[in-house]
Amino acid sequence: MDLFKVYKLWDIEPVRGLDTTLWDKEGNEYTDLYGGHAVISIGHSHPHYVTMLSEQLKKLGFYSNAVQNSLQKELAARLGKVCGYDDYSLFLCNSGAEANENAMKLASFHTGRSKMLAFGKAFHGRTSGAVAVTDNPKIRAPFNSCDNVTYVPLNDIAAVEKELSTGLYAGVIIEGIQGVAGIYEPEDGFMKELRRLCDRYGTVLILDEIQSGYGRTGKFFAHQFSGIRADIITTAKGMANGFPIGGVIISPEFKAVYGMLGTTFGGNHLACTAALAVLDVMENEHLIENAAKVGEYFRFAFHPDGALDPALSEYRGKGLMIGLQIRPEFAGLRDRLLFEEHFFTGAAGADVIRLLPSLTISVGTASRFMDSWHKLTAK
Ligand SMILES: Cc1ncc(COP(=O)(O)O)c(C=O)c1O
Repeated sequence: MDLFKVYKLWDIEPVRGLDTTLWDKEGNEYTDLYGGHAVISIGHSHPHYVTMLSEQLKKLGFYSNAVQNSLQKELAARLGKVCGYDDYSLFLCNSGAEANENAMKLASFHTGRSKMLAFGKAFHGRTSGAVAVTDNPKIRAPFNSCDNVTYVPLNDIAAVEKELSTGLYAGVIIEGIQGVAGIYEPEDGFMKELRRLCDRYGTVLILDEIQSGYGRTGKFFAHQFSGIRADIITTAKGMANGFPIGGVIISPEFKAVYGMLGTTFGGNHLACTAALAVLDVMENEHLIENAAKVGEYFRFAFHPDGALDPALSEYRGKGLMIGLQIRPEFAGLRDRLLFEEHFFTGAAGADVIRLLPSLTISVGTASRFMDSWHKLTAK
């Protein structure tokens, strides 16, 4: 059997990693400023993570949600404290898309309504409901298209109010910072108004923090910069440093009913252990503070003497969630960074480079990246 070829692959096979360094099977060294799509939060193969997972595997790898699992309770308690939503509760699943599915399902159960408001260029995943609120018709099969979703432009509060005032919407789903779109931020004022309108029209506010959360921006969740609180927050990616997991953080307004949500694998022993190891390392190594610090380093480095780097037409993002809008004359820069300078980066379309490194990245590594950047972009 061959693989079903849906991914465009680089001809590189990493076989080993440590912190922000990767080695391919020929022994070539690379620096990872992409983290396998914002997933590697505490660095590759962090020793604490390896020890905790190995020890847990020797004891018990899996049991389903039919028995007590104190690792889940410990994760919920620790996560609640560190993310500032201590009074909320946690439902564990296996991926970002699944977290969003469950969040929207809850909003619909709770309000008895069926419509969802989403934003232009949004990405929320590829399962049925998640792809229905993803603004990319190319990845939405006819089966996934439905009349329940409306898109409005990001930051257009009048368009939001026009829709919500119909009273038909169960929820609004919004990314803390749009990632796949190319790093676009909702404005603080817009978020505050969005919160007010959701309250006014009885609509659930769902914050998708799958890419922008878990400390990446310098706060635990990106929406916390605007000072608002969401009704439901979804997380995945950095949550367990590559072990598949998703989380739905749910306001006390929602009443749990046995059987309303469920999953076989979600919250298993290994996944919870991986997530607990991530929280340990984030706390012990002050990684949220580091994300803010190295993020500021990048912001200054891309604005030498206060002016924007000449290879860029825009610098977007917060902390370590960075979008570099490349000028047309520098097309191909991402491939050159990889093949000539051995730096992995992310992309959004042909002209945006995304930097989504591990939260452990040092200023020294960031500065080596800038040296390579200047070498490749010097005229
Ligand atoms: C904001 C956002 N939501 C949801 C998802 C889907 O997550 P997963 O691929 O784990 O299903 C992604 C993945 O890129 C994402 O960036």
